[in-house]
Amino acid sequence: MNADPLDKLPPILKKSLHKNLCTCNEVKKIDIINAIVDGANTVAEVRKQTYATMGIGCCTQQVERLIECLCSSDDE
Ligand code: FES
Repeated sequence: MNADPLDKLPPILKKSLHKNLCTCNEVKKIDIINAIVDGANTVAEVRKQTYATMGIGCCTQQVERLIECLCSSDDE
């Protein structure tokens, strides 16, 4: 059974999944989340796969935060 990766996100980060997180390049938050879940565990990798952060980089911190949450190991 695969846990829903979204369960790892705090509720505040689960909002607006279908809105653009990267407004410079119009990349939806859900697309960034999917890239991270599929193995893009660095900002550089997310950028390569989705083009997020490739504008002026204003969404970099948000992408970092998503990576942090989604790649945290389950230590229970
Ligand atoms: S919003 Fe992503 S680079 Fe500006």
